[in-house]
Amino acid sequence: MKNLTLISRVNEHAEQSVWIGCWLNGKRSSGKIQFLQLRDGTGYIQGVVVKSEVSESTWEAAQKLTQESSLYVRGTVRVEPRSSSGYELTVHELEVIQQTQEYPITPKEHGVDFLMDRRHLWLRTAKQRAIIVIRAEIIRATRAFFDVRDFTLVDPPILTPSSCEGTTNLFHTKYFDEDAYLTQSGQLYMEAAAMALGRVYSFGPTFRAEKSKTRRHLIEFWMIEPEMAFVDHEASLLVQEQLIAFIVQSVLENCRKELETIGRDVGKLANIAAPFPRISYDEAIALLQEQGFEVQWGEDFGAPHETAIAEKFERLVFITHYPAAIKAFYMKPDPNRPEVVLCADMIAPEGYGEIIGGSQRIDDPELLAQRFSEHELSEEAYQWYLDLRKYGTVPHSGFGLGLERTVAWICGLDHVRETIPFPRMLYRLYP
Ligand code: 4AD
Ligand code: MG
Repeated sequence: MKNLTLISRVNEHAEQSVWIGCWLNGKRSSGKIQFLQLRDGTGYIQGVVVKSEVSESTWEAAQKLTQESSLYVRGTVRVEPRSSSGYELTVHELEVIQQTQEYPITPKEHGVDFLMDRRHLWLRTAKQRAIIVIRAEIIRATRAFFDVRDFTLVDPPILTPSSCEGTTNLFHTKYFDEDAYLTQSGQLYMEAAAMALGRVYSFGPTFRAEKSKTRRHLIEFWMIEPEMAFVDHEASLLVQEQLIAFIVQSVLENCRKELETIGRDVGKLANIAAPFPRISYDEAIALLQEQGFEVQWGEDFGAPHETAIAEKFERLVFITHYPAAIKAFYMKPDPNRPEVVLCADMIAPEGYGEIIGGSQRIDDPELLAQRFSEHELSEEAYQWYLDLRKYGTVPHSGFGLGLERTVAWICGLDHVRETIPFPRMLYRLYP
């Protein structure tokens, strides 16, 4: 094997001759010079082939190169302030690994279905690569945030015997002779973990058989779910806004190039700072009614409602204290007003909708048992969850951050399908 240098590291080799392994992204020629746009996944660099300075076979190989051909290139790294990477490669030698024939994704415009069918190749384009890099940075920042704040990473199960977020969108499967469901949320297990470890967070895939085809819904999506013992609703909101501000700062610091590649207006991200405005569900209803929406107290919000509220603030905003009847069974009622619960949804600006859902949890065993019967959930199936309230119950809170919606918002994408390498969507399981 050759001793290869990554394009991301050519800065360490100025004026030296290096080998890189790469693909041809594009090509330009002006008679006696060919300009090769090379990519190796870690970066892009232009290779300059001068006819008078290379062998005939290298010149011919360069001439024949087609888009996405794979090759090794030997060249000298030159500082080139005019290039976006700051470097260029003066090519001495080419070794073609494979000459690609008729690569389907050409530089011209393609429809989304065409690209989705070729998602395995679409990932190679600069924009898709940048999105995945930003996604990875968001994950890295999230873990860094929790790891230095005494949270322990805990992995809840994927196969579960019961539901967490209602039964309408459960993904059913068989577990030998029993029925099982793919997890909708690790929360209930994270509550058990919080009673064992104090402060915990999970990061993993969650599944919902959503029958709706929207720009915000995936069937398989990744969630970050912190759960905190001895933390109430108010204190949980502080953690949420600090987390989001930290994530945005990290992306701005470490992914400038990628944001530029995507064409994101970073001005909209630069002013994200805690505290975020908060409005109650009651206030949100009044605001929507003022704007002409025909929504009544007790109804849940849809995308247009959330967008209207976010537009009013043009910032991240918490909507708090929803009616208990439209929220999950485990949320703790407001002691002063039991018809609403101690919960909040964090709504992103620019129409991206809810990126976080969280709440303080019911800690009283009797009230929890009552909720099971109201929601027609079998107490037997949740016996272990009731145990958490029976043996040393404490006030506790947590939340779930939807990774893909967060990536969509930070990248300014108009659909979540580009935020995950291989999206699972309604009627799309391929590739
Ligand atoms: O609001 P949700 O349903 O909350 C829960 O699941 C809680 N058990 C979390 C917790 O408290 N530990 O989902 C949380 C977030 C939403 O705010 C949204 O960002 C995302 O998960 N989400 C989805 N993202 C993409 N596609 C879907 N179908 C999603 N459903 C929820
Ligand atoms: Mg929610």
